[in-house]
Amino acid sequence: MDLMTKYAGIDDQTVAGFYDALAEDYDLMTDFDGRFIREKPYFHMLVDRYKMSTALDAGSGTGFHTLLLTQLGVKTTAVDASEEMVKHLQQHAADMRLKVKALVGSFENLPDVVTEKCDLVLCMGNSLAHVLTEQSMLVVLKNFLRLLKEDGVLLIQNLNYDRILAEREQLQSKKVTTSKTFIRSYEYRDRRILFNVQTLDRSSPKSNGRLLTVPIRPWLHQELIGLLEKAGFTGVQSYGSIALQEYQSPESKDLVVVARVSA
Ligand SMILES: C[S@@+](CC[C@H](N)C(=O)[O-])C[C@H]1O[C@@H](n2cnc3c(N)ncnc32)[C@H](O)[C@@H]1O
Repeated sequence: MDLMTKYAGIDDQTVAGFYDALAEDYDLMTDFDGRFIREKPYFHMLVDRYKMSTALDAGSGTGFHTLLLTQLGVKTTAVDASEEMVKHLQQHAADMRLKVKALVGSFENLPDVVTEKCDLVLCMGNSLAHVLTEQSMLVVLKNFLRLLKEDGVLLIQNLNYDRILAEREQLQSKKVTTSKTFIRSYEYRDRRILFNVQTLDRSSPKSNGRLLTVPIRPWLHQELIGLLEKAGFTGVQSYGSIALQEYQSPESKDLVVVARVSA
C-alpha cells in the first residue's frame, strides 16, 4: 500500500488494526532480542524490590515483558487488544518453551478477561498513550487498581511527553535493519499526536513503502499523576527510566511511574 492510500484510511483505523498490521515487523523494529540483554538487569532489580510473584502485562504486544518476567519466575498473564500481537507472543513463548497465559482484550474491559488479582500490573512501551480521553484513562487506571492485590504495584512506562511537546519533536526514531528501515514520526493535532510508522523495504529503494498511522494522546507528567491519584492509587513516584533514575522534566527520555494500592 502506498503512502496516500494509507492516509485515506486514517479515520477508520483502530489501535488493534494498527498493531495487527505492524505485528509482523514489531520485533525487528523494536529489537526484541536486544531488549532482553538491555532490560533484564532492571527487571531483576524490580522483581526483588517489589517482591512480586504474579503479574499482569497490560498492552503486552509481542510479549517481551511477559516473557522476561516469566523467565524471572513471575507468573505473568498478558493482555493485548491486537490479536496478531498476541499470536506473536504465543509463538515466542512456544519457541522459548515458556508457559504464559496470553489473552486478547482491552484495558477498558480488562475485568471481563482477567479476574485473578496479582502483585504487579505493568503497562510498558508507551501503551497508555493509546488511551485518548481523561474519562477512559480513569476507567483504565481503576481497572488496573481492581486487579492488584492489597500491597500491589502498578508500573507504567510512557515516553516523556513533557519533553516531546517542549521540543515539538517530529522524528521519534529511524531504525535501519538489513532488510527494512523504520521511521517513526509525529504530526501535531491539538491535544492529539498522529503517530506514524513508515516502513521502507530496502530491496525496493524507489518505493515509499508502507505508512501506518494512529492517534495518540501525549499525557503530561502532572496529568497522569493526577489521574492515578483520582483513580485511588497512593505513593505515586516518578522516574526517568526503567533503571529508576530520577525523573527530570522536561529532559528525561521516559516517564516511568510506580504507584501503590496502599501507602
Ligand atoms: C507500543 S506497543 C507496546 C507493547 C509492549 N508493551 C512493549 O513494550 O513492547 C503498544 C501495545 O498496546 C496495545 N494496546 C494499545 N491500546 C490498548 C488497549 N486499549 N487495550 C489493550 N491493549 C492496547 C497495542 O495493541 C500494542 O500491542
